[in-house]
Amino acid sequence: MQIIDGKKTASEIRLALKEKVSSAVMKYKKPIGLAVILVGDDAPSKIYTANKAKACNEIGIQSFLYRLEDGIPQEEILALIDRLNRDDAVNGILVQLPLPKRYDESNILKSIDVNKDVDGYSAYQIGRLNLGKPELVSCTPLGVLTLLDTYQIPIEGKEAVVVGRSNVVGKPVAQLLLSRNATVTICHSRTQNLAEHTRRADILIVAAGRAKMITGDMVKRGVVVIDVGINRDEHGLCGDVDFDSVAPKASYITPVPGGVGPMTIAMLMTNTLKAYELQNGR
Ligand code: GUN
Repeated sequence: MQIIDGKKTASEIRLALKEKVSSAVMKYKKPIGLAVILVGDDAPSKIYTANKAKACNEIGIQSFLYRLEDGIPQEEILALIDRLNRDDAVNGILVQLPLPKRYDESNILKSIDVNKDVDGYSAYQIGRLNLGKPELVSCTPLGVLTLLDTYQIPIEGKEAVVVGRSNVVGKPVAQLLLSRNATVTICHSRTQNLAEHTRRADILIVAAGRAKMITGDMVKRGVVVIDVGINRDEHGLCGDVDFDSVAPKASYITPVPGGVGPMTIAMLMTNTLKAYELQNGR
């Protein structure tokens, strides 16, 4: 059994990105910028956005962090996004989620220029992915595929089972696996006999949001397990996979923390560079 080290992989990607950013900036003779909008003061969101800004600074991407008060009129958020859409120094725009409940999340996200949608949440970018012409793919699914590729895990022709059907992880990760010629099954909360599906998996991606729901008896020997879950229990952080019972049967497995989590910011940086190159007519 081999541990898939997301922390190490992410840090190697960030190092390589630093070089790529510096040559792109030299080539196009203008800086790369990412705007991050945080509304309210949700504690985890404050940490995430600070980490995003820090990663930008390390890699040579300019970061513009907008901290808005919970209660600011929605029109003002839309006006800010409109300004950022037209700002040439801003190549990517990210609205940190979840937004406070009073706001219409879908309306706000819809106002982001699809060419600057580094989260890949827009109907346009999701549509491109589903057409097999991905451009900006949302960061967590992209991180999952990058881990599989980094560890040279074959995908073509394999049985890939995805547990979870969210728009931000389950569905896009299934599309990415399909585009790489895996045979893909998507399971969800209404799936009957879940274990019958998960036991068939050569590659098992779990993004269901239920702590330790996948146990050793639900997987076959040699399975590759990617655990996208982050849950808190009495012992601290844990994934959707019961690591202790699953790891002995797996050929590869991601830990939580230190698996998929660290990859998402590296993928955000990758997407910001990609958006910049697309906007400059690569
Ligand atoms: N909140 C938690 N993760 C994310 C993410 O990847 N993007 C955005 N916009 N908000 C998040």
